[in-house]
Amino acid sequence: MSGMEFLEQAQKKYPRSAFLMVTGEDDIRQAVQAMKLGAVDYLLKPIELEAVAISVQRALEIKRMELELANYRHNLEGVVEQRTKQLQAAMRRIEMTYDETLEALGGALDLRDTETAGHSQRVSQYCLEIARAVGCSSDQLKQIARGSYLHDIGKIGVPDAILLKEGKLNEQEIQVMQTHARIGYDMVSRIAFLAGAAEIVLTHQERYDGTGYPQGLVGEEIPLGSRIFAVADTLDAMTSDRPYRRALPFSAAKAEIIRESGRQFDPEVVQAFLSMPEYFWEKIPQDVKRRYRGVRAPASRPGPPGSGATSNASS
Ligand SMILES: [Fe+2]
Repeated sequence: MSGMEFLEQAQKKYPRSAFLMVTGEDDIRQAVQAMKLGAVDYLLKPIELEAVAISVQRALEIKRMELELANYRHNLEGVVEQRTKQLQAAMRRIEMTYDETLEALGGALDLRDTETAGHSQRVSQYCLEIARAVGCSSDQLKQIARGSYLHDIGKIGVPDAILLKEGKLNEQEIQVMQTHARIGYDMVSRIAFLAGAAEIVLTHQERYDGTGYPQGLVGEEIPLGSRIFAVADTLDAMTSDRPYRRALPFSAAKAEIIRESGRQFDPEVVQAFLSMPEYFWEKIPQDVKRRYRGVRAPASRPGPPGSGATSNASS
């Protein structure tokens, strides 16, 4: 093979070596070609030892710098990888802290309103399942889970005399009770990572046909998370024990949700709910109960706290 071919092949085989071309031809094009192929220098015969020494020295210096650069890059990649892992771990810890804070907030509400014990956790899980079925992104799922979990957090701001009143509320008391959506929104919207969740807290009492509160939003004016929440909330309210009645069977909740499709509920969300197997809905309360046990046993009391026993009396 020619000197040029040899240079090409030898370089592939020994990438960490430096190459000097030595030739008898005094041809500048050959020199340029050799340098293009990666030779560090080009020597002409007859060889002068002094010139060889200088070329070798320069070749070694160039190779040393190349190796240093390669090592630096390699180390840099390692450092970046290590830092990225540390950052991801820190982010996960922050997310966990967020969710622990949410649990504490929800727990604070349960301390006041025993009827909702476990309700927030179950509704949050139901919402997640429906939200997945309608194709929500992972970011939407997080916000929906948090928003539905905190939906009634504003009840903390409702006086005990109304929140815990036995029997029906009068017109004025209903109005005070209804402020819980906005109170909750004002609490939660101040927290940056709950901005999406706050929207659900504000609109969780809206109805698809526009007869809900506080804004009387209609159809898709209501955020998707809240349209999902409406179905999940009714499902849980009807299939949970209440101090004044036993839990109704799943079939009763399903029939009510179908009946209210297009009125209280978004028909598309209802379709997503109906497309899922029943065991989903039966498994969730059991999982929550297992998790909730030991945190706080729900106490019973004689009458409903809200404005009467409707399908979403829990809210
Ligand atoms: Fe509510």
